[in-house]
Amino acid sequence: MKLIKLSYVAIAVLFTSCATKPLESKNFLKDDIEFSRKQIGKEISVIEKSGKVLNPVTLKKDGSVFYCDYDDWRSGFFPGSVWYLYQLTGDKSYLPLAKKYTGAIEDAKNLKWHHDVGFIIECSFGNGYKVTKDPAYKDVIIQTAKSLSTRFREKAGIIQSWNVDKGWQSERGWECPVIIDNMMNLELLFNATRLSGDSTFYNIAVKHANRTMAEHFRPDGSCYHVIDYSLTDGSVRHRHTAQGYSHESAWSRGQAWAIYGFAVCYRETGNRAYLNQALKTFGFMKNHPRMPKDLIPYWDMDAPNIPNEPRDVSSATCMAAALYMISTFDVPNASSYKSYADSIMFSLSTPAYRAKLGTNGNFLLMHSVGSIPHNSEIDTPLNYADYYFLEALKWKKDLESR
Ligand code: GLY
Repeated sequence: MKLIKLSYVAIAVLFTSCATKPLESKNFLKDDIEFSRKQIGKEISVIEKSGKVLNPVTLKKDGSVFYCDYDDWRSGFFPGSVWYLYQLTGDKSYLPLAKKYTGAIEDAKNLKWHHDVGFIIECSFGNGYKVTKDPAYKDVIIQTAKSLSTRFREKAGIIQSWNVDKGWQSERGWECPVIIDNMMNLELLFNATRLSGDSTFYNIAVKHANRTMAEHFRPDGSCYHVIDYSLTDGSVRHRHTAQGYSHESAWSRGQAWAIYGFAVCYRETGNRAYLNQALKTFGFMKNHPRMPKDLIPYWDMDAPNIPNEPRDVSSATCMAAALYMISTFDVPNASSYKSYADSIMFSLSTPAYRAKLGTNGNFLLMHSVGSIPHNSEIDTPLNYADYYFLEALKWKKDLESR
């Protein structure tokens, strides 16, 4: 297994010199869209043959596909991927499928026991609404914003991420844990205000972003994973990690969530401080002495055995999507963000990371990490890595056809 991983890395290094050169001659976009169409087509066949609405997430240790329920934080990514595939190909046969897979997770709009409803509903119904303008989708988005808003804690001015009454979260001594991932839920709140005219959701999103900006970041621009707040007076009780290597380390997906989340906050509010935060955290990753030449981060940039540590492709795809978005902002050297995203996407399009057709449980990309401290999903495909890969492809396609 180690040998296989090393050979993947060797291939990636071979491609690295190309990745930093201009990419005009390497039209991976068309090839990636065609590959995605075929590979996701295979997964769709599996689902349709099953007679159920299966929702693929990752590969289990026995090599079979893990399918999730509607309340899993990852349930919106596969439906969202099918919406993106429709937009990337224009193939109308995806529309009924995207609608069916999206409709199957509608009950998530009423979930109040975790913060992930933003991820779930924005990726599925949010993308579906952009395409269809279906008023029923609008209602789902607004109802979800109401559910998410029940987790807003006035004293601390944040949305509580996890409950602490059961499971491993109850064993950490936390009162009101907020994870950097929560920044990704704010897009749904902004959307809900736009669709409903109710500014409550916008105001909660802004308060959450402001407190997160004040508490989650270190002077070098990197972020903590978990900040635990006091419910009594709103003060910070702990600065911890859950999925990173250590409390003070830079867990890569957390950095990617921060870059993406604050870029969205800037887009939605025009507040330059949010953009500066996104750029500072990106600068931390970009200039990191341990960032690999192919720009696919290690799962944690402080992991002890670098370079012999797993990469995390999901961090790379989320960062690429965010950087394409940032390249559309009024920012100095805007095109440099697109170039960096292109280089990430070029690496991901090589055999080092992109699966062979019909392998990898029909997921697009290999080599992501769920959570090493939980010994869960290590060096596997993940549906959110694929989702942000497709989002990044859509950005690239749109930007280049302007
Ligand atoms: N939001 C959970 C994760 O990034 O693993």
